[in-house]
Amino acid sequence: MKAVCIECGKETALSPMRYACGCGGPLDVKQPFAGLDPERLKRVFRERRAHRTGIYASGVWRYKELIAPELPESAVVTKNEGNTGLYEREPATAYAGVRRLMFKAQSENPSGSFKDNGMTAAVSHGISLGYERFACASTGNTSASLAMYAAFAGKQSIVLVPKRDVSDNKVLQTLAAGADIRTFDGTYDDGLRYLETHAEEQELYLCNSVNPLRIEGQKSIVFELAEQLNWRLPDWIVVPGGALGNAAALGKGLRELHALGFIDKLPQLAVVQAEGAAPFHRLMNGRDGSGATAGGERMLHPEPRPHTRATALKIGHPPSWRKAAAMLELTGGTTAAVGDDEILDAKACIDRCGIGCEPASAAALAGLRQLVRSGAVHPEQTAACILTGHLLKDTDAIREYHLEGRIGSSQLRSRLTHLGKL
Ligand code: F0G
Repeated sequence: MKAVCIECGKETALSPMRYACGCGGPLDVKQPFAGLDPERLKRVFRERRAHRTGIYASGVWRYKELIAPELPESAVVTKNEGNTGLYEREPATAYAGVRRLMFKAQSENPSGSFKDNGMTAAVSHGISLGYERFACASTGNTSASLAMYAAFAGKQSIVLVPKRDVSDNKVLQTLAAGADIRTFDGTYDDGLRYLETHAEEQELYLCNSVNPLRIEGQKSIVFELAEQLNWRLPDWIVVPGGALGNAAALGKGLRELHALGFIDKLPQLAVVQAEGAAPFHRLMNGRDGSGATAGGERMLHPEPRPHTRATALKIGHPPSWRKAAAMLELTGGTTAAVGDDEILDAKACIDRCGIGCEPASAAALAGLRQLVRSGAVHPEQTAACILTGHLLKDTDAIREYHLEGRIGSSQLRSRLTHLGKL
Protein backbone atom coordinates (compact mmCIF):
# COMPACT_ATOMS: atom_id res chain seq x y z
CA MET A 1 0.00 0.00 0.00
CA LYS A 2 1.28 3.47 -0.87
CA ALA A 3 0.66 6.96 0.46
CA VAL A 4 1.23 10.40 -0.98
CA CYS A 5 2.23 13.54 0.92
CA ILE A 6 -0.42 16.25 0.64
CA GLU A 7 2.28 18.93 1.01
CA CYS A 8 5.12 17.91 -1.35
CA GLY A 9 3.42 15.16 -3.40
CA LYS A 10 6.12 12.55 -2.70
CA GLU A 11 5.05 8.90 -2.63
CA THR A 12 5.89 6.65 0.34
CA ALA A 13 5.30 2.94 0.97
CA LEU A 14 3.18 2.14 4.05
CA SER A 15 5.26 -0.89 5.01
CA PRO A 16 6.94 -0.30 7.40
CA MET A 17 4.21 2.01 8.67
CA ARG A 18 4.65 5.78 8.27
CA TYR A 19 2.50 8.57 9.73
CA ALA A 20 4.09 11.58 8.01
CA CYS A 21 6.22 12.38 4.99
CA GLY A 22 9.95 13.08 5.36
CA CYS A 23 9.07 16.77 4.79
CA GLY A 24 6.71 16.63 7.80
CA GLY A 25 3.55 16.81 5.66
CA PRO A 26 0.50 14.56 6.28
CA LEU A 27 -0.01 11.41 4.21
CA ASP A 28 -3.05 10.24 2.28
CA VAL A 29 -3.45 6.67 1.02
CA LYS A 30 -2.92 6.53 -2.74
CA GLN A 31 -5.80 4.50 -4.09
CA PRO A 32 -5.51 2.37 -7.25
CA PHE A 33 -8.91 3.54 -8.54
CA ALA A 34 -8.27 3.62 -12.30
CA GLY A 35 -10.97 1.85 -14.29
CA LEU A 36 -13.57 1.52 -11.50
CA ASP A 37 -17.13 1.35 -12.79
CA PRO A 38 -19.44 3.18 -10.35
CA GLU A 39 -22.67 1.61 -11.63
CA ARG A 40 -21.26 -1.92 -11.28
CA LEU A 41 -19.94 -1.12 -7.80
CA LYS A 42 -23.30 0.32 -6.72
CA ARG A 43 -24.83 -3.05 -7.61
CA VAL A 44 -22.09 -4.95 -5.76
CA PHE A 45 -22.58 -2.76 -2.65
CA ARG A 46 -26.34 -3.28 -2.78
CA GLU A 47 -25.97 -7.04 -3.11
CA ARG A 48 -23.65 -7.15 -0.08
CA ARG A 49 -26.36 -5.49 2.05
CA ALA A 50 -27.96 -8.92 2.26
CA HIS A 51 -24.87 -10.43 3.94
CA ARG A 52 -25.34 -11.26 7.63
CA THR A 53 -21.84 -12.66 8.26
CA GLY A 54 -18.36 -12.27 6.84
CA ILE A 55 -16.46 -9.07 6.14
CA TYR A 56 -18.95 -7.69 3.60
CA ALA A 57 -21.70 -7.60 6.25
CA SER A 58 -19.76 -4.64 7.69
CA GLY A 59 -20.86 -1.13 6.71
CA VAL A 60 -17.20 -0.29 6.20
CA TRP A 61 -15.88 -3.35 4.35
CA ARG A 62 -18.93 -3.45 2.08
CA TYR A 63 -17.06 -0.62 0.31
CA LYS A 64 -13.66 -2.36 0.42
CA GLU A 65 -12.90 -1.47 -3.23
CA LEU A 66 -12.97 2.22 -2.23
CA ILE A 67 -11.19 1.81 1.13
CA ALA A 68 -8.41 -0.76 1.08
CA PRO A 69 -8.63 -2.87 -2.08
CA GLU A 70 -5.13 -4.29 -1.54
CA LEU A 71 -5.66 -5.41 2.07
CA PRO A 72 -5.89 -9.23 2.41
CA GLU A 73 -9.36 -10.27 3.64
CA SER A 74 -7.70 -12.55 6.22
CA ALA A 75 -6.31 -9.47 8.03
CA VAL A 76 -9.68 -7.74 8.43
CA VAL A 77 -10.82 -7.26 12.05
CA THR A 78 -14.51 -6.36 11.94
CA LYS A 79 -17.42 -6.11 14.34
CA ASN A 80 -20.10 -5.30 11.78
CA GLU A 81 -19.41 -1.60 12.23
CA GLY A 82 -21.27 0.95 10.17
CA ASN A 83 -24.78 -0.14 9.14
CA THR A 84 -26.08 2.75 11.22
CA GLY A 85 -29.45 4.45 11.11
CA LEU A 86 -30.45 7.60 9.29
CA TYR A 87 -33.19 9.50 11.11
CA GLU A 88 -35.39 12.55 10.61
CA ARG A 89 -37.46 14.08 13.44
CA GLU A 90 -39.53 17.22 13.05
CA PRO A 91 -38.58 18.90 16.37
CA ALA A 92 -34.89 18.73 15.43
CA THR A 93 -35.53 20.00 11.89
CA ALA A 94 -37.45 22.95 13.36
CA TYR A 95 -34.67 23.52 15.92
CA ALA A 96 -32.10 23.80 13.12
CA GLY A 97 -34.39 25.84 10.88
CA VAL A 98 -33.76 24.00 7.61
CA ARG A 99 -36.20 22.37 5.20
CA ARG A 100 -34.93 18.85 5.82
CA LEU A 101 -32.50 17.52 8.44
CA MET A 102 -31.18 14.00 8.81
CA PHE A 103 -29.05 12.45 11.54
CA LYS A 104 -26.53 9.78 10.59
CA ALA A 105 -26.20 7.89 13.87
CA GLN A 106 -22.59 6.69 14.04
CA SER A 107 -23.33 6.44 17.75
CA GLU A 108 -24.86 3.06 16.86
CA ASN A 109 -21.43 1.59 16.10
CA PRO A 110 -20.25 -1.35 18.26
CA SER A 111 -18.12 0.77 20.62
CA GLY A 112 -20.68 3.60 20.51
CA SER A 113 -18.83 6.10 18.36
CA PHE A 114 -17.94 7.01 14.78
CA LYS A 115 -14.33 6.04 15.50
CA ASP A 116 -15.14 2.40 14.70
CA ASN A 117 -15.47 3.19 10.98
CA GLY A 118 -11.83 4.22 10.83
CA MET A 119 -10.47 1.96 13.56
CA THR A 120 -11.45 -1.28 11.85
CA ALA A 121 -9.34 -0.18 8.86
CA ALA A 122 -6.32 0.92 10.94
CA VAL A 123 -6.23 -2.19 13.16
CA SER A 124 -6.70 -4.48 10.15
CA HIS A 125 -3.81 -2.79 8.37
CA GLY A 126 -1.62 -3.08 11.49
CA ILE A 127 -2.48 -6.79 11.67
CA SER A 128 -1.52 -7.23 7.99
CA LEU A 129 1.90 -5.75 8.83
CA GLY A 130 2.34 -8.12 11.79
CA TYR A 131 2.06 -5.61 14.66
CA GLU A 132 1.28 -6.95 18.16
CA ARG A 133 0.81 -3.64 20.02
CA PHE A 134 -1.53 -0.82 19.02
CA ALA A 135 -1.57 2.67 20.54
CA CYS A 136 -3.42 5.98 20.53
CA ALA A 137 -3.89 9.23 22.43
CA SER A 138 -7.52 10.07 23.02
CA THR A 139 -10.22 12.22 24.54
CA GLY A 140 -12.00 8.90 25.18
CA ASN A 141 -13.71 7.53 22.09
CA THR A 142 -10.67 6.62 20.00
CA SER A 143 -9.29 4.73 22.99
CA ALA A 144 -12.57 2.85 23.59
CA SER A 145 -12.72 1.89 19.92
CA LEU A 146 -9.08 0.80 19.74
CA ALA A 147 -9.36 -1.17 22.99
CA MET A 148 -12.35 -3.05 21.57
CA TYR A 149 -10.75 -3.96 18.21
CA ALA A 150 -7.37 -4.85 19.76
CA ALA A 151 -9.09 -7.10 22.31
CA PHE A 152 -11.19 -8.69 19.57
CA ALA A 153 -8.02 -9.43 17.57
CA GLY A 154 -6.24 -10.77 20.67
CA LYS A 155 -3.69 -7.93 20.61
CA GLN A 156 -2.51 -5.40 23.20
CA SER A 157 -3.66 -1.77 23.18
CA ILE A 158 -1.86 1.04 24.95
CA VAL A 159 -3.81 4.27 25.29
CA LEU A 160 -2.83 7.71 26.52
CA VAL A 161 -5.72 9.59 28.10
CA PRO A 162 -5.60 13.00 29.81
CA LYS A 163 -6.09 12.66 33.56
CA ARG A 164 -8.73 15.40 33.63
CA ASP A 165 -11.89 16.06 31.66
CA VAL A 166 -12.39 12.71 29.99
CA SER A 167 -15.75 11.07 30.55
CA ASP A 168 -15.57 8.23 33.10
CA ASN A 169 -17.85 6.12 30.93
CA LYS A 170 -15.26 6.12 28.14
CA VAL A 171 -12.31 5.37 30.41
CA LEU A 172 -14.19 2.51 32.08
CA GLN A 173 -15.25 1.10 28.71
CA THR A 174 -11.60 1.16 27.61
CA LEU A 175 -10.43 -0.41 30.87
CA ALA A 176 -12.96 -3.22 30.62
CA ALA A 177 -11.61 -4.21 27.20
CA GLY A 178 -8.20 -4.77 28.76
CA ALA A 179 -6.32 -1.75 27.42
CA ASP A 180 -3.15 -0.60 29.15
CA ILE A 181 -4.39 2.90 30.10
CA ARG A 182 -1.80 5.56 30.84
CA THR A 183 -3.13 8.88 32.14
CA PHE A 184 -1.08 12.06 32.03
CA ASP A 185 -1.23 15.73 32.96
CA GLY A 186 -2.04 17.73 29.84
CA THR A 187 -4.40 17.53 26.90
CA TYR A 188 -4.90 15.24 23.90
CA ASP A 189 -2.36 17.40 22.07
CA ASP A 190 0.43 16.42 24.50
CA GLY A 191 -0.50 12.73 24.29
CA LEU A 192 -0.44 12.70 20.51
CA ARG A 193 2.88 14.55 20.37
CA TYR A 194 4.39 11.97 22.73
CA LEU A 195 3.21 9.05 20.62
CA GLU A 196 4.27 10.62 17.33
CA THR A 197 7.76 10.83 18.81
CA HIS A 198 7.91 7.44 20.54
CA ALA A 199 5.56 5.00 18.75
CA GLU A 200 8.12 3.77 16.25
CA GLU A 201 10.92 3.02 18.76
CA GLN A 202 8.41 1.12 20.92
CA GLU A 203 7.11 -0.87 17.92
CA LEU A 204 3.61 0.48 18.42
CA TYR A 205 1.16 0.76 15.54
CA LEU A 206 -0.30 4.25 15.98
CA CYS A 207 -4.08 4.44 15.55
CA ASN A 208 -4.75 8.18 15.72
CA SER A 209 -6.11 9.95 12.66
CA VAL A 210 -2.56 10.87 11.56
CA ASN A 211 -2.66 7.23 10.42
CA PRO A 212 -3.94 7.48 6.82
CA LEU A 213 -5.79 4.14 7.10
CA ARG A 214 -8.05 5.62 9.78
CA ILE A 215 -9.09 8.24 7.24
CA GLU A 216 -9.78 5.60 4.58
CA GLY A 217 -12.08 3.64 6.87
CA GLN A 218 -13.86 6.75 8.10
CA LYS A 219 -14.78 7.73 4.52
CA SER A 220 -17.35 4.92 4.67
CA ILE A 221 -19.63 7.21 6.72
CA VAL A 222 -20.41 9.25 3.61
CA PHE A 223 -20.44 6.17 1.39
CA GLU A 224 -23.19 4.61 3.50
CA LEU A 225 -25.04 7.92 3.82
CA ALA A 226 -24.98 8.36 0.03
CA GLU A 227 -26.12 4.78 -0.54
CA GLN A 228 -29.00 5.17 1.95
CA LEU A 229 -30.11 8.26 0.01
CA ASN A 230 -29.88 6.56 -3.36
CA TRP A 231 -26.62 8.42 -4.14
CA ARG A 232 -28.14 11.89 -3.74
CA LEU A 233 -26.65 13.73 -0.78
CA PRO A 234 -28.14 16.73 1.07
CA ASP A 235 -26.83 20.28 0.51
CA TRP A 236 -24.82 20.27 3.74
CA ILE A 237 -22.97 17.68 5.80
CA VAL A 238 -22.29 18.95 9.30
CA VAL A 239 -19.69 17.49 11.68
CA PRO A 240 -18.28 18.44 15.05
CA GLY A 241 -14.55 19.22 14.78
CA GLY A 242 -11.82 18.27 17.25
CA ALA A 243 -8.70 16.65 15.80
CA LEU A 244 -10.38 17.19 12.39
CA GLY A 245 -9.78 13.65 11.21
CA ASN A 246 -13.46 13.23 10.53
CA ALA A 247 -13.75 16.40 8.44
CA ALA A 248 -10.68 15.28 6.48
CA ALA A 249 -12.09 11.78 5.96
CA LEU A 250 -15.61 12.78 4.96
CA GLY A 251 -14.20 15.40 2.60
CA LYS A 252 -11.92 12.83 0.96
CA GLY A 253 -14.81 10.38 0.68
CA LEU A 254 -17.00 13.01 -0.97
CA ARG A 255 -14.24 14.04 -3.35
CA GLU A 256 -13.76 10.42 -4.43
CA LEU A 257 -17.49 9.72 -4.83
CA HIS A 258 -17.72 12.77 -7.05
CA ALA A 259 -14.55 12.10 -9.06
CA LEU A 260 -15.52 8.47 -9.65
CA GLY A 261 -19.06 9.41 -10.75
CA PHE A 262 -21.03 7.92 -7.82
CA ILE A 263 -22.61 11.33 -7.11
CA ASP A 264 -23.33 14.27 -9.45
CA LYS A 265 -22.98 17.08 -6.96
CA LEU A 266 -20.67 17.70 -4.00
CA PRO A 267 -22.41 18.70 -0.77
CA GLN A 268 -20.86 21.48 1.32
CA LEU A 269 -19.05 20.50 4.49
CA ALA A 270 -19.59 22.45 7.73
CA VAL A 271 -17.24 21.91 10.69
CA VAL A 272 -18.46 23.00 14.12
CA GLN A 273 -16.06 23.52 17.02
CA ALA A 274 -16.68 24.31 20.67
CA GLU A 275 -15.95 27.97 21.44
CA GLY A 276 -13.22 27.14 23.96
CA ALA A 277 -11.44 24.84 21.50
CA ALA A 278 -11.89 26.53 18.13
CA PRO A 279 -8.46 27.19 16.56
CA PHE A 280 -9.67 25.87 13.18
CA HIS A 281 -12.74 28.08 13.13
CA ARG A 282 -10.54 31.10 13.90
CA LEU A 283 -8.10 30.12 11.17
CA MET A 284 -10.81 29.69 8.52
CA ASN A 285 -12.34 33.02 9.44
CA GLY A 286 -9.01 34.83 9.41
CA ARG A 287 -9.51 35.64 13.07
CA ASP A 288 -6.37 34.25 14.61
CA GLY A 289 -4.10 37.28 14.33
CA SER A 290 -1.12 36.34 12.23
CA GLY A 291 -3.03 33.67 10.25
CA ALA A 292 -0.72 33.65 7.25
CA THR A 293 3.03 33.07 7.03
CA ALA A 294 5.42 35.30 5.08
CA GLY A 295 4.83 33.07 2.02
CA GLY A 296 1.09 33.78 2.20
CA GLU A 297 0.46 30.21 3.38
CA ARG A 298 -2.14 29.60 6.07
CA MET A 299 -0.91 28.49 9.49
CA LEU A 300 -3.03 27.26 12.37
CA HIS A 301 -2.42 28.87 15.74
CA PRO A 302 -3.00 26.23 18.38
CA GLU A 303 -5.26 26.98 21.34
CA PRO A 304 -2.90 26.52 24.32
CA ARG A 305 -5.67 25.93 26.89
CA PRO A 306 -8.61 24.25 25.16
CA HIS A 307 -11.75 23.99 27.30
CA THR A 308 -15.33 22.80 26.74
CA ARG A 309 -17.93 20.64 28.50
CA ALA A 310 -18.02 18.61 25.27
CA THR A 311 -14.80 16.94 26.46
CA ALA A 312 -14.37 14.88 23.27
CA LEU A 313 -13.60 18.19 21.52
CA LYS A 314 -11.04 19.44 24.03
CA ILE A 315 -8.23 19.68 21.48
CA GLY A 316 -6.04 22.74 20.92
CA HIS A 317 -3.81 21.61 18.05
CA PRO A 318 -5.83 19.53 15.58
CA PRO A 319 -3.39 17.36 13.62
CA SER A 320 -5.58 17.11 10.49
CA TRP A 321 -6.24 20.84 10.04
CA ARG A 322 -4.48 21.02 6.65
CA LYS A 323 -6.55 18.21 5.21
CA ALA A 324 -9.76 19.64 6.70
CA ALA A 325 -9.00 23.10 5.27
CA ALA A 326 -8.49 21.60 1.81
CA MET A 327 -11.85 19.80 2.07
CA LEU A 328 -13.69 22.97 3.09
CA GLU A 329 -12.17 24.75 0.12
CA LEU A 330 -13.09 21.91 -2.23
CA THR A 331 -16.73 21.83 -1.10
CA GLY A 332 -17.25 25.55 -0.50
CA GLY A 333 -17.76 24.67 3.14
CA THR A 334 -17.76 26.70 6.30
CA THR A 335 -17.09 26.58 10.05
CA ALA A 336 -18.86 27.66 13.22
CA ALA A 337 -18.01 27.85 16.91
CA VAL A 338 -20.71 27.25 19.52
CA GLY A 339 -20.86 27.74 23.28
CA ASP A 340 -21.32 24.91 25.76
CA ASP A 341 -24.90 25.92 26.60
CA GLU A 342 -25.83 25.86 22.90
CA ILE A 343 -24.24 22.39 22.61
CA LEU A 344 -26.08 21.03 25.63
CA ASP A 345 -29.45 22.45 24.58
CA ALA A 346 -29.00 20.92 21.13
CA LYS A 347 -28.14 17.63 22.82
CA ALA A 348 -31.32 17.81 24.90
CA CYS A 349 -33.27 18.29 21.66
CA ILE A 350 -31.63 15.26 19.98
CA ASP A 351 -32.10 13.16 23.13
CA ARG A 352 -35.80 14.15 23.34
CA CYS A 353 -36.30 13.05 19.75
CA GLY A 354 -35.41 9.53 20.88
CA ILE A 355 -32.19 9.53 18.90
CA GLY A 356 -29.67 10.59 21.55
CA CYS A 357 -26.00 11.49 21.48
CA GLU A 358 -23.11 12.66 23.63
CA PRO A 359 -22.41 16.41 24.00
CA ALA A 360 -19.71 16.68 21.28
CA SER A 361 -22.05 15.24 18.65
CA ALA A 362 -24.70 17.83 19.39
CA ALA A 363 -22.27 20.60 18.42
CA ALA A 364 -23.27 19.74 14.83
CA LEU A 365 -26.93 20.65 15.42
CA ALA A 366 -26.04 23.74 17.50
CA GLY A 367 -23.68 24.85 14.73
CA LEU A 368 -26.22 24.26 11.97
CA ARG A 369 -28.80 26.34 13.86
CA GLN A 370 -26.26 29.15 14.18
CA LEU A 371 -25.32 28.94 10.49
CA VAL A 372 -28.99 29.21 9.49
CA ARG A 373 -29.46 32.21 11.76
CA SER A 374 -26.38 33.94 10.35
CA GLY A 375 -27.52 33.27 6.77
CA ALA A 376 -24.59 30.99 5.85
CA VAL A 377 -27.08 28.13 5.37
CA HIS A 378 -30.37 28.89 3.63
CA PRO A 379 -33.58 27.71 5.37
CA GLU A 380 -34.69 26.02 2.12
CA GLN A 381 -31.57 23.83 2.13
CA THR A 382 -31.18 20.25 3.39
CA ALA A 383 -28.56 18.90 5.79
CA ALA A 384 -27.21 15.79 7.49
CA CYS A 385 -25.59 16.00 10.92
CA ILE A 386 -23.19 13.19 11.79
CA LEU A 387 -23.90 11.97 15.32
CA THR A 388 -20.48 10.91 16.49
CA GLY A 389 -21.05 9.40 19.94
CA HIS A 390 -23.72 7.56 21.95
CA LEU A 391 -25.94 9.07 24.63
CA LEU A 392 -24.40 6.75 27.24
CA LYS A 393 -20.86 7.96 26.54
CA ASP A 394 -21.20 10.80 29.06
CA THR A 395 -23.88 10.15 31.64
CA ASP A 396 -22.54 12.90 33.94
CA ALA A 397 -23.63 15.44 31.33
CA ILE A 398 -27.20 14.11 31.58
CA ARG A 399 -27.18 14.44 35.37
CA GLU A 400 -25.68 17.94 35.26
CA TYR A 401 -28.24 19.12 32.70
CA HIS A 402 -31.48 17.53 33.84
CA LEU A 403 -31.08 16.84 37.54
CA GLU A 404 -28.64 19.46 38.75
CA GLY A 405 -29.48 22.22 36.25
CA ARG A 406 -25.81 23.20 36.20
CA ILE A 407 -25.47 23.39 32.43
CA GLY A 408 -27.64 24.41 29.48
CA SER A 409 -30.85 26.40 29.60
CA SER A 410 -34.01 25.26 31.28
CA GLN A 411 -36.63 24.78 28.50
CA LEU A 412 -35.75 21.19 27.71
CA ARG A 413 -35.09 19.91 31.22
CA SER A 414 -36.82 16.63 32.05
CA ARG A 415 -38.23 15.84 35.47
CA LEU A 416 -37.66 12.96 37.80
CA THR A 417 -40.29 12.46 40.47
CA HIS A 418 -39.60 10.46 43.60
CA LEU A 419 -42.80 8.98 45.02
CA GLY A 420 -41.35 7.72 48.29
CA LYS A 421 -42.55 4.36 49.60
CA LEU A 422 -45.54 2.95 47.68
N1 F0G B 1 -17.33 13.78 18.33
C1 F0G B 1 -16.89 12.87 19.21
C2 F0G B 1 -17.88 12.14 20.03
C3 F0G B 1 -15.51 12.63 19.33
O1 F0G B 1 -15.07 11.70 20.18
C4 F0G B 1 -14.60 13.38 18.55
C5 F0G B 1 -13.18 13.18 18.66
C6 F0G B 1 -15.13 14.31 17.65
C7 F0G B 1 -16.50 14.48 17.57
C8 F0G B 1 -14.28 15.13 16.77
O2 F0G B 1 -13.84 14.41 15.67
O3 F0G B 1 -11.42 14.58 16.13
O4 F0G B 1 -12.27 13.74 13.94
O5 F0G B 1 -12.51 16.13 14.56
N2 F0G B 1 -12.65 12.38 19.48
C9 F0G B 1 -11.25 12.07 19.61
C10 F0G B 1 -10.93 10.91 20.51
C11 F0G B 1 -10.21 12.95 19.18
O6 F0G B 1 -9.80 10.79 20.94
O7 F0G B 1 -11.83 10.14 20.77
P1 F0G B 1 -12.43 14.74 15.02
